Amino acid sequence: MAGVDYLERIPNNVNLRDDRRLLRALEEWQPRFLDWWKEMGPEGFQANEVYLRTAISVDRDGWAQFGYVKMPDYRWGIFLAEPEADRRIAFGDHLGKPAWPEVPGEYRGVLRRLIVTQGDTEPASVEQQRHLGRTCPSLYDLRNLFQVNVEEGRHLWAMVYLLHAYFGRDGREEAEALLQRRSGDHDKPRILGAFNERTPDWLSFFMFCFFTDRDGKYQLASLQESGLDPLSRTCRFMLTEEAHHMFVGEMGVGRIVQKSCELMRQHRSDDVRCYGGIDLPTMQRYINFHYSVSLDLFGSEVSTNAANAFTMGLKGRFEETKKDDDHRLADATYPVTCLEGDRIATRDVPALTALNERLRDDYIADCQRGIDRWNRTIKEHGIDVELRLPHRGFHRAIGSFGEARISPDGRVITEAEWDARRREWLPTPEDAQFVATLMRPAVEPGRFAGWIAPPARGINGLPLDHEYVRLTRKEG
Ligand SMILES: [Fe+2]
Ligand SMILES: [Fe+2]
Repeated sequence: MAGVDYLERIPNNVNLRDDRRLLRALEEWQPRFLDWWKEMGPEGFQANEVYLRTAISVDRDGWAQFGYVKMPDYRWGIFLAEPEADRRIAFGDHLGKPAWPEVPGEYRGVLRRLIVTQGDTEPASVEQQRHLGRTCPSLYDLRNLFQVNVEEGRHLWAMVYLLHAYFGRDGREEAEALLQRRSGDHDKPRILGAFNERTPDWLSFFMFCFFTDRDGKYQLASLQESGLDPLSRTCRFMLTEEAHHMFVGEMGVGRIVQKSCELMRQHRSDDVRCYGGIDLPTMQRYINFHYSVSLDLFGSEVSTNAANAFTMGLKGRFEETKKDDDHRLADATYPVTCLEGDRIATRDVPALTALNERLRDDYIADCQRGIDRWNRTIKEHGIDVELRLPHRGFHRAIGSFGEARISPDGRVITEAEWDARRREWLPTPEDAQFVATLMRPAVEPGRFAGWIAPPARGINGLPLDHEYVRLTRKEG
């Protein structure tokens, strides 16, 4: 395994030095990435030193180092997880054959589409979050936002590396286009819907990290199973970083819930807005929104594209190698919940075509674990409220439920009932306005905004009042 040369322009463990053509192509892309970062990355903090974690190797212990960095100087690098000796394809038509070190010609188009779609989400989320720095609830949270942002930038590098290294000219063009699209832009939007939504406030940010970034975790986990070995290894290492993004989302929402409960108890009132907290019904509406737009990211319940990607050995199931079946699924079935006429029904369909739904099921179970933990907090405060995931058909734009109106408790309803009750179920403009009034920066070390509890511990063993972002530049 090649070590990481940290002094190189592009830190990497893929022997870039030995591939001059690839190195040159990436060195040409690098300044354009930096231009994009400066134009579309975190607004207003590019000159500040941030206490960041930087990936420096792929060793299990000690893969990252912590230190102060100005974001444009972050060492975005290319890291593939260690190769597995004699790795074999674990599913589909090529089951048992050696994993591919190169892209099989016949799968080029499909693989490129998978990589571009994943790659597009990475810069998109940075764009969505670029205005949040100004309203951070603490320096701790500000640092976490920037940590997520620089790592999404690195994930873009990860995908661009694959495009440049394995897809020739088409790959280079796609790498360019990844820097051209813009989240929410009418003419050149990002590819997937949820990545064109706005992230106007920190409540939305934490919800995004919990729900939407978690879709990323599941996509990466199934691409990690890929027969294309470099794709598998790239995704395996990205998942190491991704764990922190899940943490930021779950803890962020959890700390808001905790603060709301404290205020409810203190003031013996469910309506904590007048005390500067976010009431639980508002939290529920934000959950409903972010969960439903994230469910759409998994695609249609029944999908021949998903079946093909599996059969070809390109994209597996979540934890494919741990599953105890034939890994071909030619005769298997899987239960899928869909709209049938005007009712919701569960029916068995060929398992191969149900792979999107199966991944969505894994995702839903994971989301539910987070909801359960938030509910434990509520219960510990002696409050009789439960947060819930709405029905999977609620507020969907893609798949079987896209054409119907489904209530959060899973009833097919009329357009009239939807119109009458939508304000109970989804964030209203008034909710957004209220949340916006809370978004005032708390930037003194150790201070936290009044709508969110402090975390249990600081970063990398440091205290909560550590200066995680240096806002005042010290002139030397
Ligand atoms: Fe990512
Ligand atoms: Fe992420």
